[in-house]
Amino acid sequence: MEETFIYRNPNAAIEDRIKDLLSRMTLQEKLAQMTQIERTVASPSAIKDLAIGSVLNAGGSAPCDKAVSSDWADMIDNFQKLALESRLGIPIIYGLDAVHGNNNVYGATIFPHNVNLGATRDADLAYRIGAATALEVRASGAHYTFAPCVAVCRDPRWGRCYECYSEATEIVRKMTSIVSGLQGDPPKGHPNGYPFLKGRKNVIACAKHFVGDGGTHKGINEGNTISSYEDLERIHMAPYLDCISQGVCTVMASYSSWNGRQLHADRFLLTEILKDKLGFKGFVISDWEGIDRLCKPQGSDFRFCILAAVKAGVDMVMVPFKYEKYLEDLTYLVESKEIPLSRIDDAVERILRVKFVAGLFEHPYTDRSLLDKVGCKLHRDLAREAVRKSLVLLKNGKDPRYPFLPLDRKAKKVLVAGIHADNLGYQCGGWTITWDGLGGRITVGTTILDAIKEVVGDNTQVIYEEFPSHETLAREDIDFAIVAAGEAPYAEFTGDNSVLNIPLNGADVISAVADRIPTLVILVSGRPLVLEPWLLDKMDALVAAFLPGSEGEGVTDVLFGDFEFEGLLPVTWFKSVNQLPMTAGQNSYDPLFPLGYGLKTNKEKHVIS
Ligand code: GLC
Repeated sequence: MEETFIYRNPNAAIEDRIKDLLSRMTLQEKLAQMTQIERTVASPSAIKDLAIGSVLNAGGSAPCDKAVSSDWADMIDNFQKLALESRLGIPIIYGLDAVHGNNNVYGATIFPHNVNLGATRDADLAYRIGAATALEVRASGAHYTFAPCVAVCRDPRWGRCYECYSEATEIVRKMTSIVSGLQGDPPKGHPNGYPFLKGRKNVIACAKHFVGDGGTHKGINEGNTISSYEDLERIHMAPYLDCISQGVCTVMASYSSWNGRQLHADRFLLTEILKDKLGFKGFVISDWEGIDRLCKPQGSDFRFCILAAVKAGVDMVMVPFKYEKYLEDLTYLVESKEIPLSRIDDAVERILRVKFVAGLFEHPYTDRSLLDKVGCKLHRDLAREAVRKSLVLLKNGKDPRYPFLPLDRKAKKVLVAGIHADNLGYQCGGWTITWDGLGGRITVGTTILDAIKEVVGDNTQVIYEEFPSHETLAREDIDFAIVAAGEAPYAEFTGDNSVLNIPLNGADVISAVADRIPTLVILVSGRPLVLEPWLLDKMDALVAAFLPGSEGEGVTDVLFGDFEFEGLLPVTWFKSVNQLPMTAGQNSYDPLFPLGYGLKTNKEKHVIS
């Protein structure tokens, strides 16, 4: 009778399965489980012979151009087949950044970014978006998303402000409901901190970046957060308690430092606080080349940085390319007893716990029945709802007695202008198809211009000019103009910006149009931008759309009055960058528009001035 290994028995207790499997693993197999590599180096020998624990793709690293969900599923299932052929047949976890829908996949639903969701304050919406995203991630064959980012963005000069729900900890805490949407609701009595995953329609989530990534000095990406421990805990750590109580499976260490202590090497925060005090029992993953970043400041050698990170409490290292060197050094460190085997066993137990909880041993392959969920109407309608609820009305009429919005869909002639009016990539922002985003028709979706054309009457002429000509601006027969301006996409350090003016000549277009025609401005940006008084005065109305994603109709639903504005600023709208950092609750708080600001239209008095 062939011995039935306990770890292969789905009815055995998870902790028994972990213990049984761990007892069968060689040191090499254990260290390989602590290794996450990029798809482009995930060779058959790495996966099958070394038994690497996890594979990921960088933003923009795809199986082919315009890769649809089935292309991804084919690639990932091929990796998985190799993993199951390894000596112990431990399945891989495949991870990717699905941070506003499965933004890697061509044709997937692109939800608004986190800053938009923060403007809704709607925890149930976040939950539903998490559930929809989980379906579209599993349909691609991936098991794991590096989301949600629960950074509390205290300075909009940071290039990742749009990945944050808010500057206010309480709003971020509320939006962590997305974890249960992604992973499923843990049952009553579920042990705090124990990872949870409901089933094949759910994904392993990742609360990131632990801790204080949104509080760095001047918002410098991967910079230094200078604060007392009490403030670090009160402002930046609180959302992790909510994630841990929902059974979040993984936590990603931050590139940033706390009072000069790099998080990737900080045992006090990664182990004594996160694991011991908060009771987190999933695994801690490094950030991309987090070990290399550890070495950079002091120029320390790679082996020393591995030692520092693993001893601090990093369980899985997102290497992602030089995994042979990583494994060689890690092996040396364990064999020389610089890293105790107990630390390795703890890390591997945590990784195996997540794999067993996720049911990967029972269901290692893609459930292809989910393919029709990708970009489906239900999800696009959900994204459209999120867009509607996230728009913030900042100005409505030069004279409050005469609101400018809602717009008249039966107007005779409408001018649409600005480079964000018909640019799907711009309205999606970073982390869309590529790492730092692109302009143009990068995926399936509806631009703001598409939506305007759909919503206006048959007798309405829509004139579209990115940069309107003098002739157009000289016309006397245009009822109103809509100018969409803002930022081009960016990600991480490419978005760090200490000036925060409206880029790409947006202010010039706004000014030229608003001088001649009653004008609504839609600002498409990852964060507040400087609005000079002279420019704001010229606008008849102003809407902050932030980064709405693929469903542009959510914008016109509200502009033309089918729905009321609900959005409230999730971040302070400063007057000048010289005021920064400036967040609600601090002394000398003198914003242009405060945290929580947001107007509603008043239909009774709707007259176009
Ligand atoms: C990046 C980001 C992190 C992301 C990871 C994998 O550098 O810091 O948020 O999940 O690498 O793409």
